[in-house]
Amino acid sequence: MNQIDYDLLNSQLRALLKDEHDALAAAANFVALLYNALDEVNCLGIYVLRGDELVLGPFQGKPACTHIALDEGVCGAAASTLLTQRVGDVHAFPGHIVCDPDSRSELVVPLVSHGQLIGVLDIDSPITRRFSEADQDGVEKLCDSFCELQENRKYFI
Ligand code: SME
Repeated sequence: MNQIDYDLLNSQLRALLKDEHDALAAAANFVALLYNALDEVNCLGIYVLRGDELVLGPFQGKPACTHIALDEGVCGAAASTLLTQRVGDVHAFPGHIVCDPDSRSELVVPLVSHGQLIGVLDIDSPITRRFSEADQDGVEKLCDSFCELQENRKYFI
């Protein structure tokens, strides 16, 4: 597995998004950039907070679950606690929602803009314990950049 230079990726993300005023386009490119940078990932995307549920937004991978309640799954846990969920073995996570049966581990980071939850970034891997602490730290910083730049945009995702 390739070691990722998250600082470099963060610079690339900020360059890619800095002049994008439309949040949907920015989200789509954020997801595409990260999906192509990470090895051993079968699904990567954003679930957007819509009322009291998470709804599938821009993503890469096979067709996925479209609506997730805030008390369901790994995504719901990240959204309701506002804490990143790094799950080494999804079969050991009570209530894990199977979207792609190939998934073995998962990293879900809450997206918070202006102090408000706007969604989560969900990354699935077919490899057990695919995500390290360094991955969590790097991906959280990318999400921070995405959300910070989001604050200047005209539309919310
Ligand atoms: N496994 C997630 C659902 C989303 S899919 O993995 C794309 C969960 O338990 O919330």
